[in-house]
Amino acid sequence: MTSGHASGADDGPTPNTGLLESVPLLAIDRQNGPLQKQFRLAIDEVCESGRFVLGPDVAALENELAAALDVPHVIGCASGSDALLLALMALGLEAGDEVILPSYTFFATASAVTRLGGVPVFADIDPKTFLVDPEDVARRIGPRTRAIMPVHLFGQTADMDALLPIAEAAGLPLIEDAAQSILSTWHGRCTGGIGDIGCFSFYPTKNLGAFGDGGFLTTTRDDLADSLRKLRVHGMEPRYYHDVVGINSRLDSLQAAVLRIKLPYLDAWTTDREQNATRYADLFARCGLTDIITLPQADTRGRHVWNQYVIRVADGQRDALRAHLTEAKVGTEIYYPVPLHLQQCFAYLGWQPGDLPVTEQATHETLALPIFPELEPQEQLTVVGRIAEFFGRPSVPADMARTEAGSNTITAPKQLSRTGLIGRADDVRC
Ligand SMILES: Cc1ncc(COP(=O)(O)O)c(C=O)c1O
Repeated sequence: MTSGHASGADDGPTPNTGLLESVPLLAIDRQNGPLQKQFRLAIDEVCESGRFVLGPDVAALENELAAALDVPHVIGCASGSDALLLALMALGLEAGDEVILPSYTFFATASAVTRLGGVPVFADIDPKTFLVDPEDVARRIGPRTRAIMPVHLFGQTADMDALLPIAEAAGLPLIEDAAQSILSTWHGRCTGGIGDIGCFSFYPTKNLGAFGDGGFLTTTRDDLADSLRKLRVHGMEPRYYHDVVGINSRLDSLQAAVLRIKLPYLDAWTTDREQNATRYADLFARCGLTDIITLPQADTRGRHVWNQYVIRVADGQRDALRAHLTEAKVGTEIYYPVPLHLQQCFAYLGWQPGDLPVTEQATHETLALPIFPELEPQEQLTVVGRIAEFFGRPSVPADMARTEAGSNTITAPKQLSRTGLIGRADDVRC
């Protein structure tokens, strides 16, 4: 099925349908653009200071994050992947030790375990939330289990009401992979401060994105904070004395300076993401698409920060819908096409297709739509309109355009002219 939309050189609305010519999956320049002057000043200051690694900006950022997340200890590091690795090192993971984690997540969650010679034990997910299924976690605890590592996937907190008692009863530490969930909460508490250690990413596509790689850890435990601070600098304390072997995983001052400018906006940007999710729910319902598309739901026990808006498309239609949207220049992504238990590099672990049925079904049915804070209502109308078009449903009604866009005449947001057509998909992953 093709979109049949008119082609044109500009990014204005398509005359016949009122839909825009393109919608990016992500347009980081819309967020960073208005802050350029502040970034340049801050970068100049770092250049003049000559302090490029850790230093005052990193310490200040750590304090600001600790206040924002209401957690006593924040430790900056070089990436979210390193945060996971450092967490496992601090907990003393050894070769042959098992860690229970979802298979439906980004690769780094599992590779942190295998890099230390540990064994990832994959648990299935809840079909509604895509988050790790606590009952399956409990079933997989064995004599070699050393930690449980839930992932707050797509910005939604895993079911901590169920997971915390399971970890406590088994005497196991709980590491939160919070790479996608900064500012998400559970009963009012920010993720990262609920389990023993939280691991976050500043990768540019994350809700708080740097100008490159970066990450941080959180913990409420003083002993773990000391250990993590040491491990990120080769286990060195004091200078040139090493009683443990750590790694080099320091956050750059330039990244910290940029992130300190962005952090005060994070809550408002998150609210914009929440509003976009609400608008999608409204648009899909009003277009009569909710019988074909399963929309993501936010658990009322926590704040969902919508790093991704992931719909489920049943009956084997996901890939054809994606092709249709790509043709209509609507950016989408599949998180994740291959579950970790079936990745080639983990074949030695012996998992087979069918071992985690809910996870495997999700990899065939899920599709991420644009949800970034600066997404315009007209763009959301276009995304939903193109999906309606694919399913042969009536396109976006004109009155909806009036309600959503404030006008019957839809004009392209001016930022679109500065943005790539469907986002830079090679930059977009998590
Ligand atoms: C769930 C999850 N864990 C870990 C990571 C690793 O973070 P980074 O890319 O900063 O290494 C990411 C994102 O990339 C992620 O989405």
